[in-house]
Amino acid sequence: MKCIDDIDIKGKRILFRVDFNVPLEEGIITDDNRIKAAVPTIKYALDQGASVILCAHLGKPGGKVVPELSLGPVAKRTGELLGVAVPLVPGVIDDQARLVAESLVPGQVVMLDNLRYNPEETGKTPEARGDFGKRLAELADVYVNDAFGVAHRENASVVDVPRHIKGACCAGFLLKRENDFLGDALKDPKRPYVCVSGGAKVSTKLGILNNLLGKVDDIIIGGAMANTFLLAQGYGMGKSLIEEELVGDAKSIMEKAESMGSRLHLPVDFKYAKTHKAQSAEGVCTAETVPSDALVLDIGPKTIENFVSVLAGARTVVWNGPMGLFETTAFAKGSLAVCQAVADLKDALTIVGGGDTDALVHLMGLADSFSFISTGGGSFLEFLEGKELPAFTALKECMQ
Ligand code: 3PG
Repeated sequence: MKCIDDIDIKGKRILFRVDFNVPLEEGIITDDNRIKAAVPTIKYALDQGASVILCAHLGKPGGKVVPELSLGPVAKRTGELLGVAVPLVPGVIDDQARLVAESLVPGQVVMLDNLRYNPEETGKTPEARGDFGKRLAELADVYVNDAFGVAHRENASVVDVPRHIKGACCAGFLLKRENDFLGDALKDPKRPYVCVSGGAKVSTKLGILNNLLGKVDDIIIGGAMANTFLLAQGYGMGKSLIEEELVGDAKSIMEKAESMGSRLHLPVDFKYAKTHKAQSAEGVCTAETVPSDALVLDIGPKTIENFVSVLAGARTVVWNGPMGLFETTAFAKGSLAVCQAVADLKDALTIVGGGDTDALVHLMGLADSFSFISTGGGSFLEFLEGKELPAFTALKECMQ
């Protein structure tokens, strides 16, 4: 895959697809990691004498202008990080946007407002996306995709722009790094290779679990998704979150794991409470003794010991999803222990993905102890499911 440093961009106008879908509370960005992750590619382009039109989405405005989902605060923060002003261009590709684009001089950056204000951006078919991608492409000479977080979406700015851009198209450093770590580095992993899967739902993890069965030596399952596996083993899980319709899938994963040579590790004890709003645990129970009126909200001490010992000595770890309701201090211990155990590994490739896990790692101040933190949520999971993501297909076709 061609990267931005493989092509001549001096004096060129670049349309840059970035994923700046950051959390905002009352107009304040609460986590700017996704912006920071794209800054090196943008800086590189400016240093090479290019001008830059940034385009991104924020939330799901449903094809209409929703002022609360304007990229205004994001443009401001991007400007602060780049050390140059980043004016915002209103969210419709009209004469004004074209004039702004045409008047850019090398070293200048602008940001188009939320692409999803245009219904065509997220159209499900090429017909529904219309000529939006073509109109975006006409704003620039070169297209750079540095938006891994949205690489699994067939959005106009992801799949149609590369087909219409008049000059070259390529990946930015961020997209390239995601591909290097999640693709190339995991093709021939050092062993033991451990997958840690947590979070609320099995449904979002079925693909990745099925794809990694037989490839990894150990699969650790924690968080509420473990409940469905335990139910499949015949344990009553009280009022805990379960996905009853997936009990059959959970059984089949457990059977396949055994026959394909991956060891599967489930929690054996838990901290529980009567409601998920509880600020303290009522006690610790085992899988056999979950009270019928309780929810399990974190893994217990014996499980922490088991999981930490599986992780000790791992040479490759892929981790997605917390072990419990870590946002509440009383139920954070399991996630923190797993986070620390992975961070402590020396001489191992350690990869983390997904919004909650990323937040947890940053919360613990351990980001520098991991080999790679993916900026993707859904795209991280789909990549590790073994799918070729639409963004990569479109870039490859454009480069041929
Ligand atoms: C994300 O936040 O995971 C990406 O920006 C994709 O957003 P979407 O799920 O709204 O398409």
